[in-house]
Amino acid sequence: MPERQPPAASLTIAGLTKSYGGVQVLKGIDLAVAPGEFISLVGPSGCGKTTTLNIIAGFEAPNGGDIRIDATSIVKLPSYRRDLGMVFQSHALFPHLTVAENIGFGLLMRKRPKSEIARQVGRALEMVRLSGFQNRYPRELSGGQQQRIGLARALTVEPRIILLDEPLSSLDAKLRREMQFEIRQIQQEVKTTAIYVTHDQEEALTMSDRIVLMNKGVVEQVGSPIEVYSRPTSEFSAAFIGHASFFDGKVVDAATGRVALDGGIFAHATHCRSRTAGEQVRLAVRPDRVHLDLGDGDFAGTLLTRAFVGPTLYCEVALPGGTRLQAHVPARADFAASAGDRVSIRIEPQDWLVIQAGAR
Ligand SMILES: Nc1ncnc2c1ncn2[C@@H]1O[C@H](COP(=O)(O)OP(=O)(O)OP(=O)(O)O)[C@@H](O)[C@H]1O
Ligand SMILES: [Mg+2]
Repeated sequence: MPERQPPAASLTIAGLTKSYGGVQVLKGIDLAVAPGEFISLVGPSGCGKTTTLNIIAGFEAPNGGDIRIDATSIVKLPSYRRDLGMVFQSHALFPHLTVAENIGFGLLMRKRPKSEIARQVGRALEMVRLSGFQNRYPRELSGGQQQRIGLARALTVEPRIILLDEPLSSLDAKLRREMQFEIRQIQQEVKTTAIYVTHDQEEALTMSDRIVLMNKGVVEQVGSPIEVYSRPTSEFSAAFIGHASFFDGKVVDAATGRVALDGGIFAHATHCRSRTAGEQVRLAVRPDRVHLDLGDGDFAGTLLTRAFVGPTLYCEVALPGGTRLQAHVPARADFAASAGDRVSIRIEPQDWLVIQAGAR
């Protein structure tokens, strides 16, 4: 770990806009990142994640808005003066340089003395658990090892903020999970602020202090993983972070939260108690909040599919009115329903999520 590690910085983005050829791809991004925080930018392909990161890095100029590190605006500074570390999707190591030369590159460019470079490279290698690899060439490393060298290279310049753009996308699932854990651990060890871009919502949920969900150039929702997962503010949010089934309904009784759903079925939704009778609402339910049984429940449906995924049974149930309900239930010996069977469904009142009316 670098010995003179400067304290982690805060990052503020205000009203950031960007257009390419008349098409606005960032429509006013606002975001405040605390020192030492690990933030993930998530969202579908083309929503503007990389563009946002490139503007923070100084590779692209915004059309409007400001970016501040602590209290200082950096939008006018060239990239190399922004004090940022960067890790990209492709490992982007120099193939003709050794591991040590790759890691030390940024320090060499900054004209640091050889002895200091050697010391920093040694520390960085230790940190990414690759001591002894300094004389290898990138082609002699596995994908995960190359990724870790990329991370080590970004960390040796002692950035106060590190930007990572889908750094794990080329790795297989198992290595990806290991690296997620390692990146998070190293980020906490060196106490740097991290902005991590991924389109993988699971990765964002496991790694981040907060998630910034982007959609078509705007920030759709910001919150801790648990907040975004348990209180999605829009249908887009509910569908992108985790899975959900959606229902249209009308509040029948606000006192009890009773809602009439399409297909003549009724739900009791705690979060509908603040609504008024007659109001149209859109409800969502997470698959892991659905209980299936062969006995009695809130309402009944027909099992369409079931698939074992480890200890969990992934089911799809057809409801009266044509809605399809996803249910992830623990695989149990006593639940022997197969496709075509009638199953009963139970959902706890607090597990019905209310999606804001008029939300995207
Ligand atoms: N240099 C460019 N010139 C023109 N259009 C661009 C340029 N860079 C990005 N765009 C467009 O801006 C939009 C946002 O792109 P961006 O790369 O930020 O998306 P992303 O969220 O990173 O997507 P992905 O998950 O696919 O990497 C896209 O519609 C893209 O086509
Ligand atoms: Mg991208």
